[in-house]
Amino acid sequence: VQSFLTQGPLSGKKIVVTAGGNLEAIDPVRFIGNHSSGKMGCCFARAAAQMGAEVTLIYGNVSIALPQNDRIRLVKALSAKEMLQAVQAAFAQSDALIMAAAVSDWTPKTTADHKLKKQAGVDEFHLTLVKNPDILQTVAAGKRKTQVVIGFAAETNDLLANAQRKLDSKGADLIIANDVSSNAFGADSDQVTLLAKGQVPESWPRMSKQEVAERVLIRLAEKI
Ligand code: CTP
Ligand code: CA
Repeated sequence: VQSFLTQGPLSGKKIVVTAGGNLEAIDPVRFIGNHSSGKMGCCFARAAAQMGAEVTLIYGNVSIALPQNDRIRLVKALSAKEMLQAVQAAFAQSDALIMAAAVSDWTPKTTADHKLKKQAGVDEFHLTLVKNPDILQTVAAGKRKTQVVIGFAAETNDLLANAQRKLDSKGADLIIANDVSSNAFGADSDQVTLLAKGQVPESWPRMSKQEVAERVLIRLAEKI
């Protein structure tokens, strides 16, 4: 094992991985969230560490156990804004970013500092949401030429067209597209299509998330 870690395809490389979903606070006890389990991000972190990389795993809300590995530094970042800061800090000294987190697109315009109470006779509650920063796009726009940024595209329809648009607009080197209507949240396997600039989309057979991670990381190792 030791020789694989020092000679592994990612040895000497630093990789940032995000996992899980963001929690956006409405008040001290309530939040907006999503169904992301964190499984894909944790698979990437584990596989990258096994291939010799030094990993920073930035995680939001996850419903699985985090990997415990001395090659994986764990950083908690619940909201999208916290996650952006954590990613920027870690990515500056890293070779690659894998954005597996389900970043919350929106956040409450204001967060109450006390628990919001119901009021007699009030039967509707309107919450105003404002856009969160796009972490992938922000980081990709400022990256060095030698750094690689990998994103995901979660779609329920028009998978390829939507994923291609994300590849073009976000400045990512690679997009891993998956159809979230046939790939259940929290599942152990995934059927993905890889999109890279100037290349024909590559549809992979269904395989475990761990294997998806390993195969993508082998591609990454050829680039960094
Ligand atoms: N992403 C991000 N910051 C955001 C939103 C998304 O970094 N504010 C990243 C995700 O981590 C993922 C990729 O962008 O790697 C695509 O996320 P997805 O939700 O599929 O796409 P969006 O651009 O948010 O578009 P939409 O949700 O409208 O389909
Ligand atoms: Ca989104």
